[in-house]
Amino acid sequence: MQGLSKRLVVKVLSRVLYNVVNYRVSVDVAFKRACKGVCKLSLAEREALYNAARDFISDYIKVKCFLGVGRSYSSYARAWVEGGVSEEGLPEWCRYGVSRWFYEKLSSLVGGEVRELLTSLSKRVLWARINTLKASEEKVLRSLSSEGVDYVVDSNYPYLLQIIKSPKPVRLLSAVKNYELILQDKASVAVVEALNPQPGDDVLDMAFAPGMKTSLIMMLSDNKARVVAVDISYKRSLLGRQLLGKLGVDLSRVYVIVNDSRSTQLRKVFDKVLLDAPCSNSGAVSKDPGLKITLTESKIRYYSAVQKELISKSVSLGKTVVYSTCSLMPEEGEEVANTISEKVRFYRPIQWASEGYEPYEHHSYFMRLHPHKHLTEGFFICCMVSKDL
Ligand SMILES: C[S@@+](CC[C@H](N)C(=O)[O-])C[C@H]1O[C@@H](n2cnc3c(N)ncnc32)[C@H](O)[C@@H]1O
Repeated sequence: MQGLSKRLVVKVLSRVLYNVVNYRVSVDVAFKRACKGVCKLSLAEREALYNAARDFISDYIKVKCFLGVGRSYSSYARAWVEGGVSEEGLPEWCRYGVSRWFYEKLSSLVGGEVRELLTSLSKRVLWARINTLKASEEKVLRSLSSEGVDYVVDSNYPYLLQIIKSPKPVRLLSAVKNYELILQDKASVAVVEALNPQPGDDVLDMAFAPGMKTSLIMMLSDNKARVVAVDISYKRSLLGRQLLGKLGVDLSRVYVIVNDSRSTQLRKVFDKVLLDAPCSNSGAVSKDPGLKITLTESKIRYYSAVQKELISKSVSLGKTVVYSTCSLMPEEGEEVANTISEKVRFYRPIQWASEGYEPYEHHSYFMRLHPHKHLTEGFFICCMVSKDL
């Protein structure tokens, strides 16, 4: 953090921590709030400060284990900035900067792989999807090369790139600013690929906002599917519809409904239903390290109950259903899918994914993407065909 005063860094990091702990917001939101009025910095300095905020939040539980509870936010930030935090003698969960219950839970799920998994949660792999509704693959690749971006084309999805190195923040690349390249994790892409949208399909997206997966549905169907896009949040739905327009989606083929999908009355049966359910986001820790602090068991229980209601509704609305959550927890994956196992036949279109967690029934039909194995966010995906429709 060359060139930045220690006082400013400690001030911003303690404000970020305050916002994450008290308002349970993501690090990105907390950083924007923390910087307001105090970060008169160059782009490079701001980027360095942002990265420091992410690393500090990722380490916060370790710092707290070392210093003890009950200290001020600024004393935790100062100790971290001064490099005065040692891991020696700390239990493993502290060293990985996660709560004890989260560490124990992950250990019980992945056994000896827990260290690799926890290490991967601190490293963000950047995936970006070429948006062929706006530009050709060749044009986007040329633009990236001219801006000095180092990338690898994904072996499963040719329009998906792993960004290895970029001379400037990816959000400032011209292809990203023009909506020709979209930051989207490979796991999210896999969910929509599993749905296999085709031109002419009638699709129901039961939790669509902000519309990243809807826009891929439209891209894969050449803008020729018809999507009923439902979300409970008015604000997210509004933003989602605007975003879909910017991404080149044919809005005359997307019908946005603001409603609770558990009770939405729809008279038709859809060809395909996507239920990308609200969840704890435990699979997205590498994107938002604040989750290491804000994830709780009660959050998981709450979402699990909502997901069970949503999945039960989904199988009455469409023949083929894809259920997904950005979660590492079986309560939001295997347990939810198994509540409707008698009404459906499961199938498994993503061969490169791992199976579901082993003690759970039907686990070999489920798909899990793990950060340490697949370089994606942690996702659960289940594909099923309704027996009743
Ligand atoms: C994981 S996000 C969806 C992300 C979206 N599919 C995408 O790819 O951009 C979950 C969404 O579910 C919505 N939601 C939560 N409870 C809901 C409910 N009961 N019915 C409909 N939407 C709900 C939230 O507002 C949130 O936008």
